[in-house]
Amino acid sequence: MSLTIRNIAIEHGLALAPMEGVTDVSFRRLVRKVGGCGLFCTEFIPARGLVEDHAMVRRMAELDDDEHPVTIQVFGRDPALLADGARVAQDLGADIVDLNMGCPSKKVCAHSGGSALMKEPALVAQIVRAMRAAVEVPFTVKMRAGWDPDHRNAPELARLCESEGAEAVTVHWRTRTDGYGGERTWHTVAEVKDAVSIPVLANGDVVDAATAREALEATGADGVMIGRGAIRNPWVFHEIAHALHGAPQVVPDAAEKERVLLAYFDEILDRFDTDRGALGRWKGIGKYFVDGLEQGDRVRTAFLRSRSVTEARAHVEAYFDCLRRFEAGDPTAFDALEVSAA
Ligand SMILES: Cc1cc2nc3c(=O)[nH]c(=O)nc-3n(C[C@H](O)[C@H](O)[C@H](O)COP(=O)(O)O)c2cc1C
Repeated sequence: MSLTIRNIAIEHGLALAPMEGVTDVSFRRLVRKVGGCGLFCTEFIPARGLVEDHAMVRRMAELDDDEHPVTIQVFGRDPALLADGARVAQDLGADIVDLNMGCPSKKVCAHSGGSALMKEPALVAQIVRAMRAAVEVPFTVKMRAGWDPDHRNAPELARLCESEGAEAVTVHWRTRTDGYGGERTWHTVAEVKDAVSIPVLANGDVVDAATAREALEATGADGVMIGRGAIRNPWVFHEIAHALHGAPQVVPDAAEKERVLLAYFDEILDRFDTDRGALGRWKGIGKYFVDGLEQGDRVRTAFLRSRSVTEARAHVEAYFDCLRRFEAGDPTAFDALEVSAA
């Protein structure tokens, strides 16, 4: 697997998915510090907000100087506005500008952006043409397999995007009506790969080396994009790079996991104006982070009920203290967890 988008080489063909409320500059910093990921992406950013220079939107588009390659993802439905938004994204330092054509959220689809665009190929052609012409950096599109199981039109749309100048496409195997359910089926992504000659990234439920291998073998894609699997386990990129490319193995212990999570929490505290806002963001990440960890469910519940950052942090510290003792061979390490974390 080797992935290059125009002249941008994507290490190990592994990309972090855009995730609203997650992949801000702090979370991407976390993933960068852990390592193994070849391409980063902001959460989706409204073209209008970029153009009108809304403070909150600028924050969503904040990039670190040494964060490359990085994509800024833009959403909307008006070709001229999207073109202007793409230009601003490029000026802000994006190495790649991406169009969101996959978001299933009612809020976004109600304004016919995101995956709702998949029902309007003529408009998609206009948008891609306008955005492509507006920027010099590579331009890509992220989409779902289609609107619903009867309209799996990603192959046609990907071909259309390619003919209008898109330089890579990412395809999430679900349709819009699948939401985040449905049974994993890669065939539409494989059809996209057959339909175009630009790079294709496969996306959806890749969480480890086995699922990455499955996605690549089933689709012939050039790379994979990982979303929730990277919140759950930011080391997933290393795991895949090791299994598929023989990259050095990196297996974090409990102490390292705690260190990374708490460093992230500190950054969030600095970044948010209020502790309440920071706590909300902590919960959004923390609830995934303990997935698959020994007795992780117990700390998740307590953590999500926390009413203050101090309480939430105490739950995390108490939990990782138990996990460290458990890893050191103490089978009773978790017995007192609820008491100590209460
Ligand atoms: C919390 C959350 C926020 C998301 N926000 C975006 C977004 O801003 N732009 C986008 O294209 N997709 C967004 N998605 C979809 C993901 O990029 C990805 O396509 C989807 O989660 C499937 O990949 P995964 O199974 O690896 O998570 C979001 C998904 C989640 C879970």
